Amino acid sequence: MPVKSLKFRLTMPVKRLDDGTGETIRVLEVDGYNTPTFDMNQEEEFRSIPTWKIKPGDIFICAYPKAGTHWLWEVTSMLVNQSADRVKLIKETSMLEGVSQKNFDNVVCPRVLNTHLPLRLLPKDTLKMNSKILFVQRNPKDICVSYYNHHKKVLEYEYDGKFENYVNRFLEGHVDYGSWFDYTLEWEKVIKDNKGYPIHVMSYEDMKTDSIGEITKISEFLGLKTDPTLIREIAEKCEFSNMKKEKDPLENSAEWKDGKPGMYRKGQIGDWKNWFTVAQNEHFDAIFAKKMKDSSFTYRFG
Ligand code: A3P
Repeated sequence: MPVKSLKFRLTMPVKRLDDGTGETIRVLEVDGYNTPTFDMNQEEEFRSIPTWKIKPGDIFICAYPKAGTHWLWEVTSMLVNQSADRVKLIKETSMLEGVSQKNFDNVVCPRVLNTHLPLRLLPKDTLKMNSKILFVQRNPKDICVSYYNHHKKVLEYEYDGKFENYVNRFLEGHVDYGSWFDYTLEWEKVIKDNKGYPIHVMSYEDMKTDSIGEITKISEFLGLKTDPTLIREIAEKCEFSNMKKEKDPLENSAEWKDGKPGMYRKGQIGDWKNWFTVAQNEHFDAIFAKKMKDSSFTYRFG
C-alpha cells in the first residue's frame, strides 16, 4: 500500500458497522453519516460538499447504491455528447462524495454528476440552480443482493459476511449510505415538496424492459435533440454485456478482491429469487409493507 494512502487510512474516522453478528463493514463516518472510505482523506471534502458551486446545466443522477447508476451515467453522458462513442471516463470521476472539490470543479461541462447522497448533503444551490435530476430506482430485493456482492468484492469494506445475515443488515440500514427506506422516503418527500421541479423518476426495471423508450424519455426530459438512430445506438452500446466488456476494465482493479472488478455483475431483474429463502422473503415483505405504507412509489420485483 502506498505510504500516502496508509497515512490517510490511519487519520480517517473509520468505523466498522456491526450488525450484531460480529460481521462488519468498514466505512467513513462523517458527522453521523456513513459513506464509503474511498482511497483518500475525504472527511473535510465530504463535509464541504454543501458549499460546492453548481454550474448552469449541471445534471444529477441520484440513486441509492446498486440501482443502476453506472448504466444511467453512461447513457446520460452519451446523450449529452450526442454520440454513442464509449465514454472513456468512469462515473466515479464525477461522483460527488468520491471526488475532491477541485476535481468536481474541473469536471467538463455540461457536467453529468452522480451521487448516492440525500438532497440535504448535496450542494445547497442544487435546487436554486434548477439542476435537472434523474432519480433512479430499483426494486430493493435486487439492490440488496447486488449490494451484498459489492460489499464482499470491494476491498475497502473488509467485509466477508454471509448473505443469511445480510438481509437484516440491509433492512436495518447498517451499510454505507444508510437505510434504503430512509433514502427513498426522503427523496419522495423532496419530490412532493417541490412540485414542478425537474426531477425525472425512473426505474432500472423499465430501462431493462424498454431501454429505447426510457432513453427517449431521458433525452426529452433533458431538452436534447432526440434522434431515434442515436437513441438506438446508445441503448445497444449501453446494453449490459457491452458495458461489462468495455467498462469493467476501466475500473481500478487494485480496489477489488482478487484484482477482478465486478461493477457489472449480472444485470438482471429478479436475481434476488436465487438468494432469498422463503423466510427471508416474508420478513422482507413485512418490513417493506410497514415502512413503505405511505409511499406512492411502486416496484417490479420480477
Ligand atoms: P447486479 O449486481 O444485480 O448485476 P450501480 O451502478 O448503481 O452500482 O448498480 C450496479 C448494478 O447495475 C449491478 O447490478 C450491475 O450489474 C447493474 N448494471 C450495470 N450496468 C448495467 C447495464 N448496462 N444493464 C443492466 N444492468 C446494469
